[in-house]
Amino acid sequence: MSQHTDPKPGFSHEKVETSNFLMIVLILLVIAIGGLVEIVPLFFQKSTTEPIQGLKPYSALQLAGRDVYLREGCYNCHSQMIRPFRAETLRYGHYSVAGEFVYDHPFQWGSKRTGPDLHRVGGKYSDEWHRIHLNNPRDVVPESNMPAYVWLEKALIDSTAMAPRMRALRSVGVPYSDADIDAAAAEVQGRTDMDALVAYLQVLGRALPGEPTATTTVAPPTR
Ligand code: HEC
Repeated sequence: MSQHTDPKPGFSHEKVETSNFLMIVLILLVIAIGGLVEIVPLFFQKSTTEPIQGLKPYSALQLAGRDVYLREGCYNCHSQMIRPFRAETLRYGHYSVAGEFVYDHPFQWGSKRTGPDLHRVGGKYSDEWHRIHLNNPRDVVPESNMPAYVWLEKALIDSTAMAPRMRALRSVGVPYSDADIDAAAAEVQGRTDMDALVAYLQVLGRALPGEPTATTTVAPPTR
């Protein structure tokens, strides 16, 4: 009570509590500092900035497939982020760890799951299954409401487009060698968007060894 009758000179809490403007500005300031304290260290932690062992950059064909994935908006229905919960690891396999996404610019974690998570779909089906599924999902999953992507088989990849993309990725830290970049055009020459997308899907989540197990614990990824 004495504070009311005898306010301290200078900073007064009452001033903040009775001014909408001050209140908003200071709340934003506190949230900004709190956010930075949580986020900034992640840029410097090995487990979030270093690739896990065995992680390879996407080949030119896989990279082209990744571009098709973005272009067609697959991320609108599919996440690529397995959370460290039993229900997820039993269904999809080992939970996703940060080091698996180091070469993904931008990553495709997503949050919308109209369809299943795709992070460990690599190797789950044959290439042929994917082709049939992408052409008409109902042919392999009768109850599916995923759209058909019939045009993928007809579109050829622009082979001249891959080298500049790989160079751009190299500038943000993806370790492509000059030889990789020189070989890019030949690798995708004559291949279709379908070939590329299937190649991309087949490599997803393969770098982390270990099969999905029922004993996967709920421990969070190491930070
Ligand atoms: C409108 C939402 C929607 C969009 C867009 C969509 N999907 Fe799907 N997807 C689904 C649903 C629902 C399923 C589950 C039924 C099925 O297997 O078809 C599915 C299943 C899948 C599966 C099988 C996953 C598994 O583990 O069985 C793959 C692979 C897949 N989608 C890839 C893609 C790709 C690649 C694209 C973009 C070209 C795409 N999806 C776009 C809804 C969608």
